[in-house]
Formats: sequence, structure tokens, C-alpha cells
Amino acid sequence: MTKYVGILTAGGDSPGLNAAIRAVGRAAQGVHGMHVIGFRDGFRGLMQNRTMRLEGPTLSGILTRGGTIPGTSRDKPHRMAVGGQELDMTEVMVDTYNSHHLDALVCLGGGGTQRSAYRLAQKGLNIVTLPKTIDNDVAATDVCFGFDTALGVATSALDRLHSTAHSHHRIIVVEIMGHNAGWLALGAGIAGGADVIVIPEIAYDVSKIAEAILRRSRGGKHFSIVAVSEGAAPKDADEQDGADDACYEAGSSMSAELRRLTGGSTLRLARQLEERTGLESRVTILGHVQRGGAPSAGDRLLATRLGTACATLIDEGTYGVMVAARGEGTEPVPLAEVAGRRRTVPLDHSWIESARAVGTNLGD
Ligand code: F6P
Repeated sequence: MTKYVGILTAGGDSPGLNAAIRAVGRAAQGVHGMHVIGFRDGFRGLMQNRTMRLEGPTLSGILTRGGTIPGTSRDKPHRMAVGGQELDMTEVMVDTYNSHHLDALVCLGGGGTQRSAYRLAQKGLNIVTLPKTIDNDVAATDVCFGFDTALGVATSALDRLHSTAHSHHRIIVVEIMGHNAGWLALGAGIAGGADVIVIPEIAYDVSKIAEAILRRSRGGKHFSIVAVSEGAAPKDADEQDGADDACYEAGSSMSAELRRLTGGSTLRLARQLEERTGLESRVTILGHVQRGGAPSAGDRLLATRLGTACATLIDEGTYGVMVAARGEGTEPVPLAEVAGRRRTVPLDHSWIESARAVGTNLGD
């Protein structure tokens, strides 16, 4: 019997989403004879029943395209902004699913999407998810697509910043995305030869970083590159937050979270390092450039592997799972083991060991 499959992408966009959509769509249609439709703008499109064709020619020419052709949003089924209110629209989404007589819904996304998808699976929908995020922090998979591309972008930014930092004898503090996981900053920091890397998993001590920079200076290297994961925090974070309020207008309602998102703590770190080392500092916030543009070859390959495996699982009737990358292969992992968990960098991870072994200061 012909199966009907829906696909949506949710959360922040990420390179490789179109490659994954193409893989699911082509394998579902070409190998298994299924019909595939897309829902626009993540769970919002599922709620509003806004669909698009994801078959035949629509899947051509998208392997190399950045972003996501159906669009995405950060909406969550159980907390959807509707008419000025936040409502649980899960049942409306179940109705949309049923109205299309879907046999399965494929949700492509990061940690938040895995949680939302699990919620829909608990309502009886046949869900299969794929792990995508530049943060690389989805639980139970070796890696997520989007990460490799962002790693390349951040690394080449560090490469470029080296020559200007060197020429001006400056400290350049580079903020790298990753939310509350340090994979991207650590990976790019190692690959781009950062002198200091600070990540959320290791609370940093400004004086230790300043010492490391001064040591370099005494050794004749009058510049330093400091790679800062956006979620990194100092050891005395609470005190610092209080002190930092002085930097913002009196009465400002800017929350600690918003300050983090606008590079507040990175700016503060740069200022502190300038004060303590006497070296001029500059800040570069890489921001969304890390998520934009064509996916790397590695992400295209990973997205294609996961996407085609997803179509096979739907054909077999295996639902309620995320297609995880496991070595050279893939493995279905129950959503219950993925939802609500986050994969941060373990302190005994080989990247941490290697970074220290080549003399990189990790802020501790
Ligand atoms: O999860 C991906 C990510 O790029 C994070 O690294 C970052 O913290 C966040 O999304 C930014 O979100 P937005 O695009 O909604 O500003």
C-alpha cells in the first residue's frame, strides 16, 4: 500500500537541511513508491495546514542550497503564539496529520524539535526525526548535520583573523555560536589554532587567560586569538553579571540571556583582557554567517545518509525514533532517549586533551 509522508524543518536553519529533504523525498518516492509533502515554516505550517510539493522536480537542484526550502520557525506545538496568546495546538496538528492521511511525519531539527516531535509521537503520530544543528548537541547521535559546515566557516574566520591580529599586535576575541555546548568553538578553535578557547563546559578564569596571553607576549608573540563559545561563562558568573549591569543603561530591562545573545559577555571578556594585559583588543561576533550558505561536502553526505535511512525506516514501519549517525552507519534511537537531553562536550573528550597538548589555554 502506498505510504504518505509529511516533512517539516523546525528550529534554526542549518546547512544540509535541503540535502536531507532531497534524500528523504527521493528515496521515499523513488525506492519505496511513497508520496511526500512538505509543511511550511515548521510546526506552524503543520498547525495551519500550509503545505508544498516535495516530489519530483521540487527536489532537484537543492542538494547544494543553504537554508531550508519549506522554511522553518522556532514554534513549539504546545506553546504556540496564536492571536496574542500562547496556546497548546498539538491537537490541531494531529488533525492536520490525519486530514492528509499521513503514514509518517519526518521532523528535521535540533534539541527543541526532538522534544516537540516526541510530544507528537506521544499523541499517536508516526514520527521519525533527523538530527540537525550547527551546535552538534543532539543526544544519542555521533554528529548532527550543519555542524561540519559551521565548523568550516568558523575555522576560516579564525584563519583570517590571525593575520590582522598579528599585524596590529592585538587580542581578537571571536564569539562562536553553539548555544550551551562548546563543540563549535572547541572544534574551530583547535582547527583554526586559537590560543585560548573558552566553552560552556569549562568555567573560565579571566586571570588565567590574561596570564596565558602575557606569557605569549613575553615569548615574542604580541597577539592572541581567543575563541569564545557564546554560552561560555566565567567562574564568578553571578558577580560578573551584577558588575556588568553598569555597562548597560540604568533601568535597562536587558536580561542576562539577552546580553549573552548580543555578545554582552564576550565584549566584557575583551575589555577585561585589554585591562589586564595592556594589549589592544577587538571583538568579532561571527553570528548567523555560521549558519548560512551551501553545506559542506561532509554535511551533504551525512544528510543524504540519514535521509535515505529515514525512508527505509518508514518503509519498514519503524516510528518514534531519531535516525542517529553511528560510525559509518545509522541507527534508529527511540525519541524517549533523545528528547530533553543535550550532548555537551565531555571533559575527558579527546578534543579537550588535544587542545591542551598543543598548548591551548582553555580558560582554567
Ligand atoms: O541552535 C542554532 C543556533 O544558531 C545557536 O548556535 C544560537 O544560539 C541560536 O541558534 C541563535 O538563534 P536565532 O537564529 O533564533 O537567533
